[in-house]
Amino acid sequence: MVQLTLPKNSTINEGKAWPRPAGSNNVREFRIYRWNPDDGANPHVDSYFVDLDDCGPMVLDALIKIKNEVDPSLTFRRSCREGICGSCAMNIDGSNTLACTKGIEDVKGAVKIYPLPHMEVIKDLVPDLTHFYAQHRSIEPWLKTATPVPEKEWLQSHADREKLDGLYECILCACCSTSCPSYWWTGDRYLGPAVLLQAYRWLIDSRDEATGDRLDNLEDPFRLYRCHTIMNCAQTCPKGLNPAKAIAEIKKMMVERRV
Ligand code: SF4
Ligand code: SF4
Ligand code: FES
Repeated sequence: MVQLTLPKNSTINEGKAWPRPAGSNNVREFRIYRWNPDDGANPHVDSYFVDLDDCGPMVLDALIKIKNEVDPSLTFRRSCREGICGSCAMNIDGSNTLACTKGIEDVKGAVKIYPLPHMEVIKDLVPDLTHFYAQHRSIEPWLKTATPVPEKEWLQSHADREKLDGLYECILCACCSTSCPSYWWTGDRYLGPAVLLQAYRWLIDSRDEATGDRLDNLEDPFRLYRCHTIMNCAQTCPKGLNPAKAIAEIKKMMVERRV
């Protein structure tokens, strides 16, 4: 039998319980993953207690309140606070989602918050997305044309524009890729659902004239074909998109160009 030895710092310890707010009957516990690369200690889970009568309704509201009023060292990303920038993606109550659109009331009991799974952690809830963004860059996510640029704009019929629905809304939050078992195990070579959905967005754009090159770039046993239709991606996407369907469409295009 194979014996696995986990690195010492892979153990997550019980952390500190921060003080409860006094005089409130509506307090919720938030159990939050903490890891600081500078202190040499193992990761740990701290408990914070938030008075929900004095806090906004979303998980991000609670994180901001904790950072502002209890523990300024708590580290996480956020920007738009309305589900547009993708910065606040994290694992809440066992699912990858956006802290700014996840209601506290949608979680039963203590709210457990971890960074996106299977990514290197920079600090606390901040994953390292360097590789993810490099993969996105590798599909050349911009309009590529050969014909001369028109004087005003590239025109597109309404029907062709509609083909981008369900694709252009992707905010590159990485919730899908970091929920994909194939991406967990072969993410160094498999592009993963988010990047493949983006790839399909350019393949299906009627104005783009690099379809052949784009398909050539994906024709590889790992970059595309590690998707095994497990569907975690579609289940977790906070924007309600379906990367697995986009991946299936790319595979169909691959087959069609061979006949
Ligand atoms: S497809 Fe959805 S989950 Fe994946 S990166 Fe785009 S918005 Fe995020
Ligand atoms: S359907 Fe494909 S991309 Fe989506 S989670 Fe499953 S293996 Fe990953
Ligand atoms: S803060 Fe921008 S998506 Fe949550």
